[in-house]
Amino acid sequence: MALRTLASKKTLSLALGGGARPLAAAAAARGVATTVSLPDLPYDFGALEPAISGEIMRLHHQKHHATYVANYNKALEQLDAAVSKGDASAVVQLQGAIKFNGGGHVNHSIFWKNLKPISEGGGEPPHGKLGWAIDEHFGSFEALVKKMNAEGAALQGSGWVWLALDKEAKKLSVETTPNQDPLVTKGASFVPLLGIDVWEHAYYLQYKNVKPDYLNNIWKVMNWKYAGEVYENVHA
Ligand SMILES: [Fe+2]
Repeated sequence: MALRTLASKKTLSLALGGGARPLAAAAAARGVATTVSLPDLPYDFGALEPAISGEIMRLHHQKHHATYVANYNKALEQLDAAVSKGDASAVVQLQGAIKFNGGGHVNHSIFWKNLKPISEGGGEPPHGKLGWAIDEHFGSFEALVKKMNAEGAALQGSGWVWLALDKEAKKLSVETTPNQDPLVTKGASFVPLLGIDVWEHAYYLQYKNVKPDYLNNIWKVMNWKYAGEVYENVHA
């Protein structure tokens, strides 16, 4: 297989944030696109109760995220075949499935790390440099929460609301993305510190149509320690 083809596949996989990066070089050497796998949750399904029920967490991880992983890997296989045949039409046709399912994998992989059981420090407001930056950019921690809740509640259809760090401008902002679009689709310099899944599958079994209650309660299990570490690593 041409070197150019191998390079483009590797670039595509990395651009979409595919997991299993240690396997990327080996996969590229074999001439196949790197696939991803479902990451383990860093806590039990029921560990976020009562904010998020164990039933939701189990379905969300085992069914929804697992399906994004399976469909992304399937699309990569099809992309392999299309690239090998030089079928440009098929390559273009696959972009939608790759964006949707690859985005679903990227977003949910972040989301699980954004949450933490209360017994392990979930919900403790941010301290240190991120805490100061939030005060500077939004006025207060409470103002940030209010803004993210408002933007999440106003998001029509399915999507995500993000606390983003623009690593070039070194500014925090609140962003939303539709469907499973990852934050990077808003700009290459955006780094997600926190992402809240506002698809109905994230809350409907517990909160029914009352999305604002879900948004209010998710802060009780937010992993600000993770967000602070990402902020300091990127901002340094
Ligand atoms: Fe989701």
